[in-house]
Amino acid sequence: MLTRRTLMKGALAAGAYAGGLGLAGRFGGVASAGAAMPLVARRTEALITDKGPTKGAMTYGEAEIPPVLRMRRGTPFALRLDNRLDEPTTIHWHGLRIDNRMDGVPFLTQPYVYGGDGFDYAFTPPDAGTFWYHPHCNTLEQIGRGLAGLVVVEDPTDPAFDAEIVLNLRDWRLGGDGQFIAQFKPRDAARAGTFGTVRTANWRQSPQYDAPAGGLVRLRLAATDVTRILALSVEGAETLVIAADGNPVAERFALDHLMIGPGQRLDLVLRMPDTEGAVAALKDLRGTKPATLATFRATGASLKRNVADLPALAANPLPEPDLSAATELPFILSASAEERPKDGICGSLGYNFWAINKVPWADDTGDPTAPLAEMKAGKTYIFNVENPTPQVHPLHLHGLVFRPMNSNKQAIRPHFSDTYLILPDEKVQLALVADNPGDWVFHCHIIEHQKTGMTSYVRVT
Ligand code: C2O
Ligand code: CU
Repeated sequence: MLTRRTLMKGALAAGAYAGGLGLAGRFGGVASAGAAMPLVARRTEALITDKGPTKGAMTYGEAEIPPVLRMRRGTPFALRLDNRLDEPTTIHWHGLRIDNRMDGVPFLTQPYVYGGDGFDYAFTPPDAGTFWYHPHCNTLEQIGRGLAGLVVVEDPTDPAFDAEIVLNLRDWRLGGDGQFIAQFKPRDAARAGTFGTVRTANWRQSPQYDAPAGGLVRLRLAATDVTRILALSVEGAETLVIAADGNPVAERFALDHLMIGPGQRLDLVLRMPDTEGAVAALKDLRGTKPATLATFRATGASLKRNVADLPALAANPLPEPDLSAATELPFILSASAEERPKDGICGSLGYNFWAINKVPWADDTGDPTAPLAEMKAGKTYIFNVENPTPQVHPLHLHGLVFRPMNSNKQAIRPHFSDTYLILPDEKVQLALVADNPGDWVFHCHIIEHQKTGMTSYVRVT
C-alpha cells in the first residue's frame, strides 16, 4: 500500500534539484493561522546557462528555487511579504478564491509595497489543486526575472501517487553571455508578445527527474512565462489530464498537443515506463521547433501500476452557474495604438496597444477607469467574450471561477477555470456565479498585453 511516507520518499527522489534543496523547502511552506511566516522577495543569481550565473534574477523565499508553497484546503494560511527588492511589488494568488483584500492588485485592492516594507497576506484556500503566485506591480520586469512560485493546495483525501513532480515552465530573455536583455520590444508587444531566448523547467534547461518504474507520477505544472503559449504532449509514457487550472476535470483525457497559455496549470498522471532507465519526455510541440521541457527516468523494479486504478480527485466546492437566470455581459478585445506616460510606479511600458470594450486600462495609475461591469453577489452572469484580434489571449479573471461554454472555434470539455485561452476570431461564453464581493481584475496574461491595455475589472457587490 502507498502511505504518506512512501509518497514523500517518491517526492524526494523526484524533486532532488541541483543544489540539494527538495523536501525541506517544499514542505516548509505549510503555515497555520497566526504564525505569519516571512516570505522575502529578493534578488538572486540564477544558474540557467553554462555561461555562469545570471545576475539580477528575482525569487521568493530563502530555500528552494524556484519556490513551491504548500497549503491545505480549508486550513488558514498566513505569510508576511518582506520586500527586499529595490522597487515596489505585491503578491497575487492566481486562481485562489480568496478575500478581495488579499488579491494583490495595487490601487484596486491594496497599496503597492515599497522596497523595505511588508504586507500581511492571510486567507483560507477553499479549493485543492495547483495554483501559483506572482507580483502584480512592475509585473513584466519582475516575473520576467523569475519572481513567481507554485502553490500546491493539498486535500487530505487526495489519492496517493508513487511520486510527485512540480514543474514551473518558463523562458528567460538572456543574451549570448547568459545575462538579461531588454524584457520586450514594442513592436512585439503589439503582436504575440516578446519571446524568451532560453526555455526552462524549474529554472533548468530540460532537467531530468527520477521516478519509480511502472509507478504513477502526479505532475503538477504551471505555465509561468510572460509570453509563450505551449502545446504539450508526453512521449514515452501514458499521460492523462486529471485537473486543469486547479480544478479536477469531469473526465480524464489523454494529453495530446493540449494548448495552455501563461497563467494556466495542468495536473497530469504519468504512468512511468516499466523498464529501469527508460525515459519519457514532456514536449512543447507548438511552433516550428519542438522543445523537450523535462524528462522522467524510470528507476528500480516496475511497480506495475495501472492508471485506471487511480481514484478520482475530490471535487472543489465550486458554485454552479444557473443558466436559466443569467445576465449576459459583452467583453470585446481589440487592438489600439497610443503612447502613454512611462513613469507609472508599477512599471508602465509606455504604450497602449490593446483594449477591452475599447477601454485600455492604465493598470498602474491611482485612477483606474470605472469597472466594465457591476454584478450582484450570488447571481449568475455570462461573459460573452469576442476576440477579433489575430492573437491568442489567455484571459484571466481574479477571484471567481467560470465555466467556458459555446465556443465557435473549439470543443470545450466541461470544467471550471480562472484562465481561458481564446483563439483569433473566437467567440466564447464564460458562465459564472458572482459569489465573491470586490473588484476583480480581468486581463490577458501575456504580460505585455496586460501592461499595454488589455486589462479591466469587474465589480461584485
Ligand atoms: Cu496571474 Cu492578474 O494574474
Ligand atoms: Cu493577450
